[in-house]
Amino acid sequence: MNRLRLALAAVLAASPVSALLAQSQAPQPGPRAWLQCRACHTAKTGEANKVGPNLGKLFGAKAGTLRANYTYSPALKASGIVWNDKTLDAWLANPALTVPGTRMAYPGLANPAERKALIAWLRKETR
Ligand code: HEC
Repeated sequence: MNRLRLALAAVLAASPVSALLAQSQAPQPGPRAWLQCRACHTAKTGEANKVGPNLGKLFGAKAGTLRANYTYSPALKASGIVWNDKTLDAWLANPALTVPGTRMAYPGLANPAERKALIAWLRKETR
């Protein structure tokens, strides 16, 4: 009887269902593209700035105004951009073209589907 229970437990532990459960409980690492951003950014409100500013409360904010404790480039502050799905899509596709003189040294995310997934994730994560 005990042996049967052990065997059952082993089967359950190895099953895809428990693997899925473990996955859904793990902290969400974000889409693949975020791995590039997070070298320079944090996303949740209250986290520290890195080389780039913390992105908490990004949506609806005017570019270059979010963090009082961060020194933005004059170019970004003067851009007049308000962050939403559309402005972020252009910015992330090519920061230097969107805001000439920006200090964000990132060449851009070429794949539109990856940008879309990243922006949707940012919308939730930075709330
Ligand atoms: C090499 C470092 C670096 C990487 C990589 C990087 N950024 Fe940035 N980011 C910066 C810097 C620096 C700024 C400030 C730019 C300025 O002041 O001109 C910035 C600014 C921003 C802003 C404007 C914030 C505001 O308060 O107006 C957004 C949005 C942003 N980054 C998103 C991203 C996302 C999303 C990625 C990943 C696809 C990314 N960044 C990758 C360094 C980086």
